[in-house]
Amino acid sequence: MTTGHHLDNRTFHVITFGCQMNKHDSERIVGMLESYGARQVQSVEESEIVIFMTCCVRAAAETRLKGHVASLKNIPLPEGSTLDQRIIAIGGCIGQNEAGALIDELPHVSAVFGTFNLSSVPELLAQALETHSPAVEVLEAADEFPTCLPSHREVPWSAWLPISIGCNNFCTYCIVPYVRGREKSRTLEDITAEAQTLVDQGVKEITLLGQNVNSYGRDLYGEPRFADLLKAVSDTGIERLRFATSHPKDLTDEVIAAFRDLPNVMPALHLPVQSGSNRILDKMNRRYTREHYLGIVNKLREACPNIALSTDIIVGFPGETEQDFQDTYDLIDEIGYHQVFTFIYSPREGTPAAELTQDTPREVIQERFDRLVNLVQAKAYDANQVDVGARIPVLIEGVSKRDSSILAGKSPKNQTVHAPIPEGTDLDELLGTIVEVEVDEAKTWYLKGHII
Ligand code: 5AD
Ligand code: SF4
Repeated sequence: MTTGHHLDNRTFHVITFGCQMNKHDSERIVGMLESYGARQVQSVEESEIVIFMTCCVRAAAETRLKGHVASLKNIPLPEGSTLDQRIIAIGGCIGQNEAGALIDELPHVSAVFGTFNLSSVPELLAQALETHSPAVEVLEAADEFPTCLPSHREVPWSAWLPISIGCNNFCTYCIVPYVRGREKSRTLEDITAEAQTLVDQGVKEITLLGQNVNSYGRDLYGEPRFADLLKAVSDTGIERLRFATSHPKDLTDEVIAAFRDLPNVMPALHLPVQSGSNRILDKMNRRYTREHYLGIVNKLREACPNIALSTDIIVGFPGETEQDFQDTYDLIDEIGYHQVFTFIYSPREGTPAAELTQDTPREVIQERFDRLVNLVQAKAYDANQVDVGARIPVLIEGVSKRDSSILAGKSPKNQTVHAPIPEGTDLDELLGTIVEVEVDEAKTWYLKGHII
């Protein structure tokens, strides 16, 4: 089949749910389809092909996806299209998890692909266009790290750089190891070379991506080499270097030292703790204790006193008592995070925790969740106050959603920073540049200032 011929000049729109890895996978899909002559458009209405990149970490994401897909049925094709119906494709983690069953449930879906076969997407779409019957391909595992696919970055100044895929940890609530497979690392040379290319292209910020970046390299080198990798990527001269996600059990002293020793490693770390109760951490198979976690936080703050920490919390894990929840609440209070992503536990079929009985009533869990969110907001507000009066370098990313005369960008600590566009300055000249901002006011979720 001549894939290019079928895709040439077709319009497509990608809708992405879930984590940064999915967002990056979407960039690869856009890059590939463009290389076949297809055109990316920004809405379903303008598109002949809609691709959903999906997440199955929690049930809510799945329900939302199915509603969203069903609602497309009533949206007509763009004027002038030669198709008799829109091609709808589902990929990512739900594609991997449900495969052909999705077609039975959503008969107007034309293609399904999983997390291991991004490179087949153009061919699957071409097949669906040609044969008018559903094309499904879901592989069990990747043969090798998919590094050579083209990518279309959403913004020219920031890049995601995958260093590993998959996860070996099997936290008992988590479906990721089942849909993303075992951890597979890219070689150090390969990653460093891509980082260098990005720097040469003028990229200002690189975020290294992996389900657990701290165990990077264990499969290739017999031991984690993440600290070495950080040093090598730092040496490319990239202005800002970030990474996600870190598992506390694998965060080494060498990686902690990088926050002190490598000036381009930004002072921000996402370090999911999930719970502050040792009993629950054990049931989650997290393999660290509250005390160990607090020890790491101390070391991080010694190495980098102004580091901004963020975390993930699951409320209502099966068997969570009021005391367990209180332990989590107290931990959040004690650490004082800049940002906490709070989730209500959602049982995922096939994971060990899904077999546990949930004896806490829904209202009790909701009430705990609300209590925690209030604390998170108060602590985030407090954490931001230390920056009032400071002068900070801000990477300009766009304008405020509410007011297009206000610039929006990111501080080294990854806070959103707003500042009025200086008179006589063109927004386009500022996009992707780093400017000095003096902070006048700190809110819960952003800082307000002015460009110096
Ligand atoms: N239920 C609720 N939250 C979950 N997470 C992962 N699995 C589940 C689940 N079954 C959360 C964890 C993880 C984040 C990405 O999603 O907090 O860190
Ligand atoms: Fe899921 Fe745990 Fe792996 Fe994170 S470390 S992806 S929570 S299994």
